[in-house]
Amino acid sequence: MKNYRKLLCLAVLTLGFVSCGEKKETDPMGNPIEETKTTTTALSSKDLGKELFEGKGMCATCHKPDAKIVGPSIKEIAKMYTEKKASISMFLQGEADPIVDPTQFEIMKANFAITKTMTEEELKGLEDYMLSIK
Ligand code: HEC
Repeated sequence: MKNYRKLLCLAVLTLGFVSCGEKKETDPMGNPIEETKTTTTALSSKDLGKELFEGKGMCATCHKPDAKIVGPSIKEIAKMYTEKKASISMFLQGEADPIVDPTQFEIMKANFAITKTMTEEELKGLEDYMLSIK
């Protein structure tokens, strides 16, 4: 198989087509094979949010999708915010009052140190992700 490839490359080379070292390959007829597109599609807002939620934001340590642990479940938060048409992103910037469990707000408030450094896009991502959990 290897030898066959070498031969093929050689043939291609001698024909003056694409060099072996280059990424562009040719089929046995010498026609360029279209490169598989590897352009990384930009993350959707929701996926960016999920990544932040489980990564940098460390939100997942206190919020699980379906169960209350330290903080309310994402489902519970999403339900409340959807019903009240409130903005999670504003809450995370410290610009809106807690509506889910105000008695525990002090624990959540500590996280604003992280969320306040996030860009609008990142906050929107967190919001989109949380609201997508139903
Ligand atoms: C140390 C635990 C902890 C971490 C980490 C944490 N939370 Fe919370 N979160 C809580 C608690 C407790 C509450 C309930 C208090 C409240 O409702 O404000 C809460 C409530 C919330 C609420 C509802 C606020 C409201 O209106 O009442 C949102 C939205 C939220 N968290 C998002 C996040 C996001 C996003 C992150 C990550 C950046 C995060 N949390 C990280 C503990 C945490």
